[in-house]
Amino acid sequence: MKASDDFIRRLPKAELHIHIEGSFEPELMFEIAHRNGVHIPFDSVEAVRAAYEFEDLQSFLDIYYQGMGVMLAERDFYDLTMAYLRRARDDGVVHTEIFFDPQGHTGRGVAFETVLNGIWKALRDGERTLGITSRLIMCFLRHLDEDDALRTLDQAMAFRDRIAGVGLDSSEVGHPPGKFERVFTRAREAGLVAVAHAGEEGPPAYVEEALDLLQVARIDHGNRALESMALVKRLAAEKIPLTVCPLSNLKLCVVTDLRDHPLKRMLEAGLVVTVNSDDPAYFGGYVLDNFTAARDALDLSADDIVTLARNSIAASWADEVRKQRWLAEIDAMAAASI
Ligand code: ADE
Ligand code: ZN
Repeated sequence: MKASDDFIRRLPKAELHIHIEGSFEPELMFEIAHRNGVHIPFDSVEAVRAAYEFEDLQSFLDIYYQGMGVMLAERDFYDLTMAYLRRARDDGVVHTEIFFDPQGHTGRGVAFETVLNGIWKALRDGERTLGITSRLIMCFLRHLDEDDALRTLDQAMAFRDRIAGVGLDSSEVGHPPGKFERVFTRAREAGLVAVAHAGEEGPPAYVEEALDLLQVARIDHGNRALESMALVKRLAAEKIPLTVCPLSNLKLCVVTDLRDHPLKRMLEAGLVVTVNSDDPAYFGGYVLDNFTAARDALDLSADDIVTLARNSIAASWADEVRKQRWLAEIDAMAAASI
């Protein structure tokens, strides 16, 4: 049986792979640019959207860093985060684990605490007014050197209680996880949980490095892990969750057709797969769009959809009581739909 859009929306879901700067819709970009007196080299929202044609990860990242450049004040980061939370709530997201890229802001003169305070206040208000719980994951930009990441970790230590984990993002190929072994060791010693983008464009060896050298609890993307049967077996045996992003993979030409997307093969291999939006403002869809597009392209069954929703909750770092409640709700919805 097929799961309807409405059934998928009503399933409690956690989003575990969302770059908050990647949820920056052009409408808000223009509004913030205007109030900050920053020029955008486009005439209209439509012209901005029309420029979102990417051939690979780097061609997207160039535009992504340019887009975030209009954000200067705490209020900008608050508005960005609040807009995402409202949109996620409409898709039935009950818990979200948000990446942010502090170096994308400190590198252009915006203070770490300006970014963090804006995001943090929105997350607190979002929990109170929308009922969405959240965790924050601070990502290091892998195209920069490890000393820059170490300085960023030092800055974050003043706000240790607000940050749950560290991640690794930006240009993958040529920047293997091992480049960041020391900073990840320090972060884990401080009690932060580690995750890393790996196997989006990079080879299976990068996924292995993320596991062995960075000791990550989850792999972000992980598509190319499927090229190594030994690695697939390991990911399944160790129950390492993969945060997969179908529409992102399509927009960044990681796959040329969604019907070739590895999500279904990952499920069949017994991997703990989750569905996420990555950078929804740039890739044409939030989490529900990713579920429905994957369902249609890969002919996913209602059981598959329920598994994906269950995986997202189980792989999250939400508090255990809430997790058990959401899992029970999912099971009740699945039982009622038979
Ligand atoms: N930063 C934002 N989105 C990203 C992605 N899909 N891969 C790597 N870095 C990113
Ligand atoms: Zn990502």
